[in-house]
Amino acid sequence: MSWRTKSNLAWLREQPGVKEDEALASRTSFGIGGPADFLVELARAEAIEKAIDGCASRDIPYFLLGAGTNLLIADRGVEGLVVRVVNREHEIAGTRVRAAAGLKMMRLARIAADANLRGFEFAIGVPGTVGGAIYQNAGCWGKEIREVLVEVEGYMAGTGKQTWNAAALKLGYRTSALRDGALQGGLVLSATVHLARGDGEEARQMMAKLTRERNETQPIKTKNCGSVFKNPPGDSAGRLVQAAGLKGAREGAAVISTLHGNFIVNEGGAKASDVLRLIERVMAEVKRRFGIQIEPEVEMVGRWK
Ligand code: EPU
Repeated sequence: MSWRTKSNLAWLREQPGVKEDEALASRTSFGIGGPADFLVELARAEAIEKAIDGCASRDIPYFLLGAGTNLLIADRGVEGLVVRVVNREHEIAGTRVRAAAGLKMMRLARIAADANLRGFEFAIGVPGTVGGAIYQNAGCWGKEIREVLVEVEGYMAGTGKQTWNAAALKLGYRTSALRDGALQGGLVLSATVHLARGDGEEARQMMAKLTRERNETQPIKTKNCGSVFKNPPGDSAGRLVQAAGLKGAREGAAVISTLHGNFIVNEGGAKASDVLRLIERVMAEVKRRFGIQIEPEVEMVGRWK
């Protein structure tokens, strides 16, 4: 039975701040995809918990949205309620920093440096939020969030507040139990990381250097979703795409970056279906030429079927 019953729709419509049939494309870094059936932006933990409890108890599908990076939303939009998590506070206690899920990783990297803490510089290359970074164990320049993670304050509909450490979260290469395992549907409220005391100026200089490097190797000023594919063991998806002669390949307004083969750029008005066709073409061509099966890392959300 569909979740779209009269009473469920009435409940959704009476939620404070909820918008119906609300555009999502502009809330993603790719700028692609259809609307959310319902969208609400929430900053208070209790309000977010209440929203997902309400959905779970009514069998209304829900999706937790952060900065909208690493996401490909279907042209036909997203079913149910999209909760945009915008809690952004942080607190520093000694060398530990607790950050709310909606805080951007890049912002937290600067906060840590300003507090003379080292070890979070890599986050200057992670475009998403803290919540999104936990969801997929985000990383850059060979460092991942799991390496500095103490614990996550989480929430499960029906069960309530929980504390998850890196082992419980099963953090792996661009994956976690939230993305692919027993914690699916779980909410990240905040994460605590442990850093080291150090020189903030050195941290800022390092971040400036890393950003220059990223500017030279990735099309960071374009509309994109970050890396499209996971790197296969011992190789680089970008290198394979280049070797397959696919840089600049196009489907509609979706084009493989000429700068970095693991990026697809939305030149303006690209459809999710264009991107999917391009992804499938790349996978088939890399397999045909090199016998290597690469897998998407971008999260495909919404009505694909
Ligand atoms: N390369 C090519 N052609 C290309 C792109 C890359 O030959 O078009 C070669 C490079 O010369 C280099 C190797 O492939 O020798 C690796 O490339 P790069 O250093 O750019 O790193 P990557 O493996 O492609 C990973 C992460 C990025 C992260 C960078 C920098 C994945 C899937 N990607 O990219 O993460 O920013 O390292 O640390 O793990 C993301 O996850 O969204 C993301 C952008």
